[in-house]
Amino acid sequence: MTGGAQRRAGVPQAKGSTPMVRDAVTMDDAKKAAGVHAAGYVVDGMRVGLGTGSTVHHTIVALGDRRPDITCTATSLRTHELATSLGLVVVSPDEIGHLDITIDGADEVDGELNLTKGGGGAHTREKIVAAMSDRFVIVVDESKIVDRLGPFGTPLEVLEFAPGVVATAVQALGATSVSVRDERSDNGNLLCDAHFPAIDDPVSLAAALSGIPGIVEHGIFPGAMVERVIVAGADGTVSERTH
Ligand code: 5RP
Repeated sequence: MTGGAQRRAGVPQAKGSTPMVRDAVTMDDAKKAAGVHAAGYVVDGMRVGLGTGSTVHHTIVALGDRRPDITCTATSLRTHELATSLGLVVVSPDEIGHLDITIDGADEVDGELNLTKGGGGAHTREKIVAAMSDRFVIVVDESKIVDRLGPFGTPLEVLEFAPGVVATAVQALGATSVSVRDERSDNGNLLCDAHFPAIDDPVSLAAALSGIPGIVEHGIFPGAMVERVIVAGADGTVSERTH
């Protein structure tokens, strides 16, 4: 669900013309620009939370290249594998206890910096790690910026015990449907996506979803958790959004 095929971004191309490939920036180039920029927030001595996904991947690679004197914790098994393969020191959340900064991706960002996360199914660990952090920095490409959360779907990690009961409770909150993914989370639980037409009040919905027994965690991250969002433009530029 994450890290899909690279697509050309920022390439002016009239019908029937030849693409101006010299000026082209691929979506992955744009993500790399944002990911590398975010790595600049990490300095020696920090305890660092490493997110999951194709954008923060570039942050982790940049840290692996620079090798600052840091200790990290990872939000997924794949991030743990990547970071350790690059020589970064990665320990469990319990061992590290508290984090100076976490850098992670997102699937949607609204004007209040509320987030949808969990496209990669890692949102439970991501939320734990974000909540351990003094600073929570998000890296996205500009396609993730939305007026209101909702179109992506709202990821849910759900216990296998009663997914139908959970889905009925989620639909009572306004979801038109709840789908179940084929893959499981790193924690062995079901991954579902709730489809809300548009989410007017993400903070209230987040609280309501948290109150449904059987939902281990949902993918709405209130903007109050977020310090800044680093946005990769399709033209290769990088900008920042804060409260
Ligand atoms: C994984 C996530 C990711 O951060 C989110 O899906 C963004 O990924 P990408 O940078 O590949 O678009 O929440 O659970």
